[in-house]
Amino acid sequence: MEINRLGVDLAGLRLANPTMLASGILGLSAESLGNIVKTGAGAIVTKSVGLKPRKGYPNPTVVQASCGLINAMGLPNPGINEFIKEIREAKNFDVPFIVSVYGFSAEEYVRVAKKAVDAGADAVELNVSCPHVGETGSEIGQNPKLLAEVVRKVKTVVEKPVFVKLSPNVTNIAEIAEVTAKAGADAITAINTVKAMAIDTETAIPLLSNKIGGLSGPAIKPIAVRCVYEIHERVKLPIIGCGGVTNWRDATEFLLAGASAVQIGTAVAIKGPNMFKSIIRGINAYLKKKGLKSVKEIVGLSHCS
Ligand code: DHB
Repeated sequence: MEINRLGVDLAGLRLANPTMLASGILGLSAESLGNIVKTGAGAIVTKSVGLKPRKGYPNPTVVQASCGLINAMGLPNPGINEFIKEIREAKNFDVPFIVSVYGFSAEEYVRVAKKAVDAGADAVELNVSCPHVGETGSEIGQNPKLLAEVVRKVKTVVEKPVFVKLSPNVTNIAEIAEVTAKAGADAITAINTVKAMAIDTETAIPLLSNKIGGLSGPAIKPIAVRCVYEIHERVKLPIIGCGGVTNWRDATEFLLAGASAVQIGTAVAIKGPNMFKSIIRGINAYLKKKGLKSVKEIVGLSHCS
């Protein structure tokens, strides 16, 4: 009989395998997120939702870079009250459903996170790392005092796991991870996009309407692996690796760096959701070849050398 090597415990959530859909991909509808579940993803994270509806930035909001995408959508979302319907529907998914939350103050994070959990979210992921919307996202995640306040206040109200998605746009991500851990977070997602821009050489005009955006995809994978490695050295919390995972070998690299699971975003947006299956199969074959019984056995293994 084939043994199950792929299951992971992530801050109290049980995932059938260590792959997750990253926030921001395929939007906020339960229907499109449900289609991802069918492709084998171990968990789903929604696009970030806030207290009030937001239109986001005008087009263009995404441009292609050499090895990735630069995006600045401006956090478009219908607001948590409208989104609650989708959460209620997603409760029937048979994988953990995690709602990504942003706010313009600690109180807003608390209100949105509480509404999401009351509606049935299995966990929340605090977006303290969106690199280009003022007074939220990385403006919170780059400020240790504000970050700690947000995490602490959400933790006092929410009785489900609280994940915190960190920004790579800081001097020392391990220090920020330590602040996050001390404030009571249950897991850390590393990393969000890297601040970036692109300019049209004919017109001399920045390509994104917001000018500055966030770079994702294979271009940032080595940065993300380094961040996971540094965080693993400093804090005991489970880490979810995110940034440029395209195949099973990328995913395995994150696990070896210290991640307990990986999120996949840009590759799903570009190549479609079928990649979950091949990544899961590849990790399983790797473990089998190495004579290992569980994903857990390779988490952080690169630190032993
Ligand atoms: C957006 C939000 C993010 O957290 C991010 O990393 C990139 C883009 C957005 O909606 O613009």
